[in-house]
Amino acid sequence: MNIAVFASGRGSNFQAILNAIQQGYLPARVTVLITNKADAGASEIARAQNIPAVQISQTKFSSEDAFAQELLDLLRNHQVELIALAGYLKRVPSRVVRQYHNHIVNIHPALLPAFGGPGMYGHRVHEAVLESGAKVSGATVHIVDEEYDRGPIVMQQAVAISNDETPDSLAAKVLTVEHEIYPRALKAFAEKRIHIEGRKVWVTSSP
Ligand code: GRF
Repeated sequence: MNIAVFASGRGSNFQAILNAIQQGYLPARVTVLITNKADAGASEIARAQNIPAVQISQTKFSSEDAFAQELLDLLRNHQVELIALAGYLKRVPSRVVRQYHNHIVNIHPALLPAFGGPGMYGHRVHEAVLESGAKVSGATVHIVDEEYDRGPIVMQQAVAISNDETPDSLAAKVLTVEHEIYPRALKAFAEKRIHIEGRKVWVTSSP
């Protein structure tokens, strides 16, 4: 399975995906990294691994449609079958979401449908979780549709919140779990073990 990773930041999930591929766990290839920022850590990782990295930002295009067309051309040229958003802070144009229907996934650092939506990223998520008094948080892999953090849930894993938890300590705990479940979810896609019916997603076990 050919994957495009979209990232805006440090790229630790991108690295976890590459590790899973190198270890023979994930039967896939990352054929292109797409980033909106020149200085994204993810671009460094791509360079070090000889993975084509393309920096592309909607601000350089006259319309969303022109941007979508460029993205679709890039995805086709790199024979992309699945898009994995990994800390990508921009909205994916609707045309791309439609064309890759049920073939775009995202990792979110909380247990959706709580603590998601516009503006809920980075530390804000962990601060909101702690302010709510919740006793668990976790990571969610979900399908991307046209609404932020609202697509069908593919996989989740919880972490316990301790009495002295801080946003930093919670972020670190959740990130460890993200690095486990994202490769696991992508492996299920690659092995065609994901079944989607409306909002319900089933993952069947490995043969
Ligand atoms: C992760 O916490 C992910 O859940 C969120 O953005 C962060 C990206 O981190 N969507 P990294 O760039 O993969 O290290």
